[in-house]
Amino acid sequence: MEENSTQKHTNNHAIICPLHLQGHINPFTKLSLNLASKGVTVTFLIFEHVQQEITKASGCNSNNPFEALSQGSNLVGDIRYRVISDGLPLDYDRSGRLMEYLHWFMVGGLYDQVENAIGNIVLESRPKVNVLIFDTFYPWASKLAKRFGLRCASFWTEPATVFSLYYHVHLLRQHGHFDCPDNRKDPIDYIPGVNSIEPKDLISYLQDKDTSTNMHKLLFQAFQDVRLVDYVLCNTVQELEPHTISTLQTLLPFYPIGPILLSGPTKTRIPTSLWAESDCSEWLQSKSPGSVLYVSFGSLANFSKNDVMEIAYGLRDSHVDFIWVLRPRTVLDETSDVLPLGFEDEVRGRGTILPWTDQIMVLSHPATGGFLTHCGWNSILESIWYEVPMLCFPVFTDQITNRKLVVDDWNIGVNLCKESTIQRVEIAAQIKSFMNQKPREELKKNIRVKRNMLQNALEADGSSQKYVNKFIEELSK
Ligand code: UDX
Repeated sequence: MEENSTQKHTNNHAIICPLHLQGHINPFTKLSLNLASKGVTVTFLIFEHVQQEITKASGCNSNNPFEALSQGSNLVGDIRYRVISDGLPLDYDRSGRLMEYLHWFMVGGLYDQVENAIGNIVLESRPKVNVLIFDTFYPWASKLAKRFGLRCASFWTEPATVFSLYYHVHLLRQHGHFDCPDNRKDPIDYIPGVNSIEPKDLISYLQDKDTSTNMHKLLFQAFQDVRLVDYVLCNTVQELEPHTISTLQTLLPFYPIGPILLSGPTKTRIPTSLWAESDCSEWLQSKSPGSVLYVSFGSLANFSKNDVMEIAYGLRDSHVDFIWVLRPRTVLDETSDVLPLGFEDEVRGRGTILPWTDQIMVLSHPATGGFLTHCGWNSILESIWYEVPMLCFPVFTDQITNRKLVVDDWNIGVNLCKESTIQRVEIAAQIKSFMNQKPREELKKNIRVKRNMLQNALEADGSSQKYVNKFIEELSK
């Protein structure tokens, strides 16, 4: 599903709206390209504050970043770019005031802003808009589609397993594994399509004691709303989660259309990063094949200063070469340096610390031999794609369940720590043993099998291609 596929014009026009977060913007961008390459007109909605961050990070001030790909070949298709306000001031701290923001998101003014924008697009656009493709986390997507007489597709950017767990939260409640004064601790074996799973491997929000937060309200509402949509598109592959997907398909129109990855020329030409990317290609070039550990905990996870110190000392004492993406505000409320004094000097030449980078470039580089990851779903798919075994340190949300898939079910990664507390001695020892060539060989063998699954799904007769084509055919009816 590369953007240079043969483009057939259809009369379909999709309005596509990602969440404002990095792990959602990336797959939504690529989904837009995939659909446009198959003749669907796309209007990509982006919030002004997100657009501003991307522009600041990339220095590219285009009215439509997708146009960069069209120059010369015109193969990308018709993608329009619409910047809208979410109704809050640009400098409002959406991550720092998350719970308040979620209230705005659910029942505050966000719905009205989006409704207004869509009303205008629907009125003025040709071909006529016929479908909304919204992130599953928008709890009012089906209402919005109904309001304009449009079909509604929900795009789920996490694994099908995680979808099924949220979708069946009522069963977890009924059986006493969730939202009870004293949740059961025994394995859960009754979620349709999900093999027995330990409560410790549930999504963090389904392990929380306090289930009255705005985050929980949003999740519950979103998974009520998703029952009303016409299609669920998921960034997974039929062959990767066969049992879960086939079971979900008996319950709702579930289309596995992954892997949806920003890669190759797309990644270098469409700016999507919310932070400026530091270039480490020259540094990587100086390292021998498979010798570098890439360390990144994604775009959302926060740590205590103490945890960051332990990771730093663990990396130092492991004596392996590493690139560590230490995002700004990884330690909330910390403005001063969070690394141990003199750390960068101690690891100079062997380790490089960056605020953000081009992860695809790093993972695809021959020098990269392992990925110490928080198990964000995009990172996992990218790691499989570039055949880089994972050392897993999940922090929260779906990452906890994703770890189980990677380590326990697929054997393409190992755990960083036994417990959630992290200590430098354990980290150093585990990194050293992971980067040792032998244990990684077996992981690499397994990851190659998964990579082939992903690759095959994208071939002309592959499962994901078929589902995308089926989705487009359905729209045309
Ligand atoms: C969040 C959740 O944490 C994740 O579990 C969920 O599946 C999606 O939303 P995030 O923390 O951002 O995602 O992790 P991930 O899903 O891995 O997405 C991060 C994206 O940022 C990846 O596409 C990765 O390539 C990119 N990235 C990361 C960079 O481009 N540069 C970096 O330095 C780090």
